[in-house]
Amino acid sequence: MQTTIKTQLINQFTALFANANATRLFFAPGRVNLIGEHTDYNGGNVFPCALDIGTYALVRARTDKLCRFYSINFPQQGVIEFDLDNLEFNSQHNWSNYPKGVMTEFIKAGAALTHGFEIIFFGNIPNGAGLSSSASIEVLMGTILNSYFGCNFDPIKIALLGQAAENNYIGVGCGIMDQFASAMGQANHAILLDCNTLNYSYAPLNIAGYKLVIANTNKQRGLADSKYNERLAQCRQALAILQQKLAIKALGEINLAQLEQQANLFSDPLIYQRARHAVSENQRTLAAVAALKANDLIEFGKLMQASHVSLRDDYAVTGIELDSLVSAAWEQAGCIGARMTGAGFGGCTVNLVAEAQVADFIQQVAQKYQQRTGLSAEFYVVNPSAGAHEITNS
Ligand code: GLA
Repeated sequence: MQTTIKTQLINQFTALFANANATRLFFAPGRVNLIGEHTDYNGGNVFPCALDIGTYALVRARTDKLCRFYSINFPQQGVIEFDLDNLEFNSQHNWSNYPKGVMTEFIKAGAALTHGFEIIFFGNIPNGAGLSSSASIEVLMGTILNSYFGCNFDPIKIALLGQAAENNYIGVGCGIMDQFASAMGQANHAILLDCNTLNYSYAPLNIAGYKLVIANTNKQRGLADSKYNERLAQCRQALAILQQKLAIKALGEINLAQLEQQANLFSDPLIYQRARHAVSENQRTLAAVAALKANDLIEFGKLMQASHVSLRDDYAVTGIELDSLVSAAWEQAGCIGARMTGAGFGGCTVNLVAEAQVADFIQQVAQKYQQRTGLSAEFYVVNPSAGAHEITNS
């Protein structure tokens, strides 16, 4: 933990809430998904890892039911105040609707929230860039509530309550991937998660000689405003069509050959393409994890590339910025895999780059991307890290 962040949080807390006595510090990470995109809400597999960047909170319990929340990232919003007896969604409460949604879901799950809090939040993850800034604040709030109120929920339950907040309170029909990765991450490992059963296993990210490089298009996108819910609806439509012939509950249950056999059921080619992405991406994810386990990073990279092509052509969630950033990466020596990551429609790409060529990669890709789009990309070299936790020393 960077002491500068802790100092910043303490200084801000002291300035707003008189002193920082009896405070506790918590952290929940963002995530990057290596492969398995738009498969989670289709009951398929995903392969994300938690990052070493995310959201921090310096917390103090109050004796009454008032909550006073402040984010260093949104100073213009000031201190947002609400009462635990009135947790209704309030658009004026802006970003703090995320923690409020989690509080609401904890109450629904039987937790007794007997007192409010003073909290300073700070995220060192870019907002709205597809690295799960919202899941990290949800899992962070869940981890805080679980600890203060002795709920004894395990991290998977905390992830599920975070997802429920996003689905029911914020109104985005997201799957479980982001909250799961934020709650369950492990250093140097990615998580293979079957979103149908929630069975999971950790895979060591043995990429010696290579680095994970995230590139941010710096094209802002709001998940809630985006076409995310539309894709979800299209996949549900595809599933309903297939259910006329197949006894399945999710697209993740079939393979590409099984889908192709039913192609004539689809009168709208667009709906078929959406299903083809969900099904083929699920297969690619399992193949990629097998390649990683066999130390075949070149194959892993090829599958990342195929994933991007499918997200571009069948799922239509990329756009000029992501496509330009990914194609510039593909052209670059030392880059063995590159694809968009997260929901799409802007946000970030994830790249597997030979360690010795990272500096060159960043310089060249930045230049080409600038030429093609007029935008400046940002780059982060990241390491898979632990899930949400309280920071007790340093
Ligand atoms: C967002 C959602 C996730 C997942 C990805 C796409 O990050 O929150 O649940 O659907 O998009 O893979």
